[in-house]
Amino acid sequence: MKGIILAGGSGTRLYPCTISVSKQLLPIYDKPLIYYPLSMLMLAKIRDVLIITTPQDNDNFKKLLGDGSRIGMRFEYAVQDTPKGLADAFIIGEKFIGNDSVCLVLGDNVFYGANMSQILAHAMDSIKDGGASIFGCMMKNPQEFGVVEFDKNRKVISIEEKPQKPKSNYAVPGLYFYDNRVVEIAKQVQPSARGELEISSINDAYLRLGQLYVSIMGRGVTWFDTGSPKGMHKASGFVKTLQEMQGFYLSCIEEIAWRKHFINDEQLRKCGKELEKTDYGKYLLSLLNEEEQV
Ligand code: DAU
Repeated sequence: MKGIILAGGSGTRLYPCTISVSKQLLPIYDKPLIYYPLSMLMLAKIRDVLIITTPQDNDNFKKLLGDGSRIGMRFEYAVQDTPKGLADAFIIGEKFIGNDSVCLVLGDNVFYGANMSQILAHAMDSIKDGGASIFGCMMKNPQEFGVVEFDKNRKVISIEEKPQKPKSNYAVPGLYFYDNRVVEIAKQVQPSARGELEISSINDAYLRLGQLYVSIMGRGVTWFDTGSPKGMHKASGFVKTLQEMQGFYLSCIEEIAWRKHFINDEQLRKCGKELEKTDYGKYLLSLLNEEEQV
C-alpha cells in the first residue's frame, strides 16, 4: 500500500501565521505538524509516501523530510497548484499510486491512541479484497466535518460533507484507505457547491457500491483537526502534557522508524546526534540507553 500526505491548502483560517508558510510546517508543541500524520502512515508500515504541497513550500518540505532515507522511508513530492479539494490528491498521485491501494492522510490531522497500529492494521485488512475503509469519531461539532450516519445495526446509510443539519455526531477524520479504483472514482467527482472536489463524494461512491467500511474510533483515540489557532493550541497542549507526564514522545518519527525496524541503532544514534542540543535529540539518544539497560 502507498501513502499520500495532503499538505497543501491555503491555511486562511490560520492567517497571519500561514501567510508565508504552510500550516503543516508549523509546530505542534515540539515538532512540525506534518510529523503527526506521517507517523500514522509509519505505524501502518507504509513506507512509500507522496507528499503533496503548495508550489511555494515544496522546497521547505523537502528540506525538512528529504528523500526519507534518514528514517528508512521513501518520499516523493508533488505540488497542487490550487486547493481544488481533497479528492484531487488521487488525480495528482495517479502515477505514484500505480496499481496499488492507497492511504490518504490529511497533513493537519493529529491522532493519538494506544492501539493505533492495530486500528490501522484492521482498517487495511478490511479492504484487502477491495473497497474503502474510513473512521467515525464522536464529535460535538460534526457539522464542521464529513459526517457518517448509521442505522441501528451500525450499517452506514449516508455520508455528507459539512451538513447544516448533521444526521449523526460521527465525524470522519482525515485518514482514509482505498483500493486502486479510487483514482478513477476521483476523476468522476464533480465540484461541490463550495467548489471543491470533496473526499465525501469519493466515500459516497464507495457507499453506493456497498464497499464502504467505517470503524468507530472510540474513547481510546484522540483526534485533533488543527485547522484553527484553537485547534493547534489544544493539540500542542495535549502533546506537551502527555510527553511530560508519561516521558515518551508522541509521533516521534525517528522512534517509530526504529521500533518498526526501518532503521537500526546506528541510524537512530545519528538522528539523535544531529539534534543533540534539543530535548528531542536527547530523547532519541535515551531510547538507545533504555534498550541497552533492558
Ligand atoms: O479533518 C477532517 C476533515 O477534513 C473531514 O471530516 C472532511 O470531510 C474533509 O473535507 C476535510 O475538511 P476540512 O474543512 O478540515 O478540510 P481542509 O480544507 O481544512 O483541508 C484539510 C487538509 O488538506 C489541510 O491540511 C489542507 C489540505 N488541503 C486542502 C484542500 C482543500 C490541500 O492540501 N489541498 C486542498 O485542495
